[in-house]
Amino acid sequence: MLLLALESSCDETSAAVVRDGRTVLSNVIASQIDVHAEYGGVVPEIASRQHLEAVSLVVEQALRDAGVSLLELEGIAVTQGPGLAGALLVGISVAKGLALGRRIPLVGVNHIEGHLLAVFLETPVAFPFIALAVSGGHSHLYRVDGIGRYTTLGQTVDDAAGEAFDKVAKLIGLPYPGGVAIDRLAAAGNPQAIKFPRPLINDGSFNFSFSGLKTAVLTYLGKHPEAATSGLNDLAASFQAAVCDVLTRKTAAAVAATGIKRVVVAGGVACNSGLRRSMAAFADQQGVELAMPSPLLCSDNAAMIAVPGDYYLARGYRSGFDLDALPVWPL
Ligand code: KG4
Ligand code: ZN
Repeated sequence: MLLLALESSCDETSAAVVRDGRTVLSNVIASQIDVHAEYGGVVPEIASRQHLEAVSLVVEQALRDAGVSLLELEGIAVTQGPGLAGALLVGISVAKGLALGRRIPLVGVNHIEGHLLAVFLETPVAFPFIALAVSGGHSHLYRVDGIGRYTTLGQTVDDAAGEAFDKVAKLIGLPYPGGVAIDRLAAAGNPQAIKFPRPLINDGSFNFSFSGLKTAVLTYLGKHPEAATSGLNDLAASFQAAVCDVLTRKTAAAVAATGIKRVVVAGGVACNSGLRRSMAAFADQQGVELAMPSPLLCSDNAAMIAVPGDYYLARGYRSGFDLDALPVWPL
């Protein structure tokens, strides 16, 4: 099927044209980061307005880039949740309008399912696999037995990994979103310089906890104020190492417990170079097949929404015009 996919759950307005849930013909992403950076985080009301301003242009651009006309589209997939209600509604309203106008089927998709399956746009991965989904709102370990067959093995009990990156970045005066900035600083730092805790590492669960790590950084800065200026690289590298170490070791534990030697890492934090390195090292050592989408497909984008969208539409799933945003929607 030739699908138009829409994503507007947070601070990226994105539209993509994807064939058969596998071939990306276009994937246009308009980021609002600069607007929200001024406020140190995403302001939901501003996000909705920005989506409204951008969405028509983004859809037109996606069709133009793909060389496809509205008349050729065979279906529409849209992020239904989880995310910001007002932001989600912009994508949903446009999706409904286009589906109604063109009389083509519409399906609402779970954003996290999009992240988990984005890998299929680049690499075929056999089921079952273990998936680590790490973004601004999620830190989950899943066992994936097929599309639509997800078992949660563990999740964060407080902050998500991306949230921890963003909060620690704020503590040390870096702009929102902090993950990229910490990654950059960490590249020139010593990851062993400061011994930050590895929360829940030996608790026998597949859960994560990152809020204590943020407090540990704050406590360290209180005792070593000079680190906020001259020691930022080491601080960033040590914090990043602690997060990546926990994410990698818990993923390794899930592989060991299930015997499933295939791992997919997904979500915005999967762009992190430290995480990509530690996952690659673990996979190498343990003979695990590892798939991590390229960074563009790890962070929020509409092409990933087309993967489950195509699967469900092809199997006859349809959303009605009563499709509503689901700000909270566990997979
Ligand atoms: O998946 P995503 O684009 O949006 C959500 O669904 O949340 O993830 C955004 C999160 C932010 O917290 C951002 O700081 C983090 O991903 N992130 C990173 C990196 N790039 C993005 N965190 C660490 N290192 C990065 N290179
Ligand atoms: Zn996301």
